[in-house]
Amino acid sequence: MEQTFLMVKPDGVQRNLIGEIVKRFESKGFQLVGAKLMTITPDLAEQHYAEHKERPFFGELVEFITSGPVFAMAWEGENVIAIAREMMGKTNPSEALPGTIRGDYGMTVGKNVIHGSDSPESANRELGLFFNNDELSSYTKQD
Ligand code: CMP
Repeated sequence: MEQTFLMVKPDGVQRNLIGEIVKRFESKGFQLVGAKLMTITPDLAEQHYAEHKERPFFGELVEFITSGPVFAMAWEGENVIAIAREMMGKTNPSEALPGTIRGDYGMTVGKNVIHGSDSPESANRELGLFFNNDELSSYTKQD
């Protein structure tokens, strides 16, 4: 079954949005298979955002994501990578539609509440950066 990496960013944690965000993905039918509240080190932040290293906002991005705890999550379900991206909305909250997480709660392109993997390759890489295999618990629903 497909898995993705989602993370409530420091602004979302500080605004008490963890519960609301988890509820949206649970209600949609996805399964939470791993989660932890953690503060990202600069080294992990640079690895996680390596593809943005040359962007002018890279320093700001690393500074923000390490500024306070994040809630890192592994979610499982059919087509979860693409559907979670739809549920998050566009990166820039001013372009994100109402009803999406960033459309409803995002403030700026930097403080946009949530990160989600954008492809199977990213999901695999990001899950590996944030979780050990023994921290993920897939399970079958009991009738
Ligand atoms: P995320 O999905 O975490 O992946 C990369 C992040 O870079 C993105 O969300 C935005 O929060 C951030 N980002 C994109 N453009 C800018 C920008 N112009 N200034 C600051 N952060 C940005």
